[in-house]
Amino acid sequence: MHYGGDYNPEQWPEATWTDDVQRMREAGVTTATVGVFAWSRIQPDEHTFDFDWLDRVIDLLHENGIAVDLATATASPPAWAVTAYPGIRPQDEDGALYWQGSRQHYAPSSPDYRRLASRLVTELVARYKDHPAVVLWHVNNEYGCHLNYDYSDSAAVAFRAWLRRRYADDLDALNASWGTMFWSQRYGSFDEIVPPRKAPYSHNPGGLLDFKRFTSDTLLELYTMERDIIKGAGATQPVTTNFMGAFPPADYWRWARELDVISDDSYPDPNDPDAFRSAAFTRDLMRSLKPETPWLLMEQASSAVNWRPSNAPKAPGQLAALSMQAVGHGADGILFFQWRQSMRGSEKFHSAMLPHAGTDTRTWREVVQLGGDLAGLPELPSGAGSSRASVALVLDWENHWAISSPDHPVVLDYLALVQRWYGALHRQHVSIDIVQTTSDLAGYGLVVLPHQYLLSDEGAANLTGYVRGGGQLLVTAFSDVVDAQDAFREGGFQVALRSVLGVSVTEFGALDAGSSVTVSGSGLALRGEFLAEELAVHAPDVEVLARYADGRVPGTPALTSLETGAGRAWYLATIPDDEGMLEVTRAALARAGIRSELPTTAAGPDLERVEVARRGDVLTVINHGDAVTVPLPDGSTDLDGSPLTALELDPFAWALVRTPTERTAL
Ligand code: GAL
Repeated sequence: MHYGGDYNPEQWPEATWTDDVQRMREAGVTTATVGVFAWSRIQPDEHTFDFDWLDRVIDLLHENGIAVDLATATASPPAWAVTAYPGIRPQDEDGALYWQGSRQHYAPSSPDYRRLASRLVTELVARYKDHPAVVLWHVNNEYGCHLNYDYSDSAAVAFRAWLRRRYADDLDALNASWGTMFWSQRYGSFDEIVPPRKAPYSHNPGGLLDFKRFTSDTLLELYTMERDIIKGAGATQPVTTNFMGAFPPADYWRWARELDVISDDSYPDPNDPDAFRSAAFTRDLMRSLKPETPWLLMEQASSAVNWRPSNAPKAPGQLAALSMQAVGHGADGILFFQWRQSMRGSEKFHSAMLPHAGTDTRTWREVVQLGGDLAGLPELPSGAGSSRASVALVLDWENHWAISSPDHPVVLDYLALVQRWYGALHRQHVSIDIVQTTSDLAGYGLVVLPHQYLLSDEGAANLTGYVRGGGQLLVTAFSDVVDAQDAFREGGFQVALRSVLGVSVTEFGALDAGSSVTVSGSGLALRGEFLAEELAVHAPDVEVLARYADGRVPGTPALTSLETGAGRAWYLATIPDDEGMLEVTRAALARAGIRSELPTTAAGPDLERVEVARRGDVLTVINHGDAVTVPLPDGSTDLDGSPLTALELDPFAWALVRTPTERTAL
């Protein structure tokens, strides 16, 4: 279990370093991430490298038994680099240039940036690859974080090259794919194509989608450029870069394959009482991105951040609750931004493990306590086998990009909706894997497919095969509308999943913000928002489970189900509110025979804010609400094997229990 955080000794006189390592030992720190923003300190000008200070820092940490996650420092180019090579600067869609003075002011496609970054990494790796303190390489920092999209001239050149590769140099194929006969958008040469810069009206959606694909690939190319330098130099340590949850610009499914270890930065808002649920979602996502390898919580705040309009501190105990949440969901490391609170700069109000107010503080005491608790944990089961859940929820970046294009029946916030579906499942205390449409779905009792507007042929075939093989699939409104190129398929909507759904949409039925429809039947009563789709039923065996009770087309189907062999596919033609999502998923879970981790339905308000997370036979139980009694499944014990029937948990208290892997019925 790694414990520690970003350590930025370049901000401090050397005398402070000795105090740092003593305090680190006191707090149980095992690992420090060094050098994330140290480029200008390491390379004060283009022709000078100064590693002496870094040698001393790394040696000092090593002498004190603290391992180093060595950053490549490429996230914030020095001012000299931008001055000498102004083409490094990125541009926004209006053509405005970004300047130095903050961080991340580089165009990912800039050849000068790439050359300078490569040189820095080459020097760093040559110097430290054999240092015994270095256990991990931390490439760059939060790729794409502030600068999601770059529209500069270097981006234009790289975008054209990317398009040539994607369309095998065939401009006719690109024109056909984007549908450029529309509005006279036809291109006669790849050189006529620019990134989707400011235009009078909507951009071509096919072009927008490809630009987002290009951006994710280009950022990933930067990561693999550095990784290849590191590995090419013979370094044997694992390589990572820090993710940011379900970060829209980077398709982490594609990225995950290139990382040895997944790491994530996570800043749930202490002001938001439900932030623990979206945090649980990102933790399950991180585990699911690389199920065979425990992930690292690379950054979190010990208390307040500095970048929200109002930066609440964590409540007493909340730090441990959110840290143990990560552990429960598969993390083998809890790290912070940052070790010692800065005295100057934009982040001086950001909390740290060692607060500016010193060691006689609640934060310091909680940091020390957590270090001790983590050190006392037994080895926890990890790896794909130990964490496989019975429910899978689809998250798809390409769908996110496509569904976010303008000119749709209604504006949908896909990521928020996916997290609401996750929340409905999470409230019922089931374990959830996050998957892709093309993942191996065998073994899942239920797959939830939220608003999968863009569905590839491969994804559709995989989901169809899952149902035919006996799986239960819940398809929700505005799914299976376009193919991978964001074009309608021949034959209407829901063409790709038609054989298992037996229904299709004839009108999307957008609802105004604030208006809703009522759906009822089969014991369900739901409020639907955003869309009240009108359905055509194509197969005689389709069961209409619920109908619209009001709205434009009362009495027509709103929730259907079709059995195919031992499998079954539901289609829900509207988007329920939170309670409705709970009801629909409860019905689907019950139909699929999926069991809760706790011996109640947890529908009662009492257990609503209790979270469970499973690692093999170890269940982490966390209370994010008021004091509560949590009944445990029969056969539960504490970690020493003493029987336990229930837990009394104060607010933010947590416990690890061993439970049989066989669960009780919902
Ligand atoms: C992260 C970043 C850190 C620090 C932190 C503050 O996005 O990686 O360097 O800025 O936010 O919350």
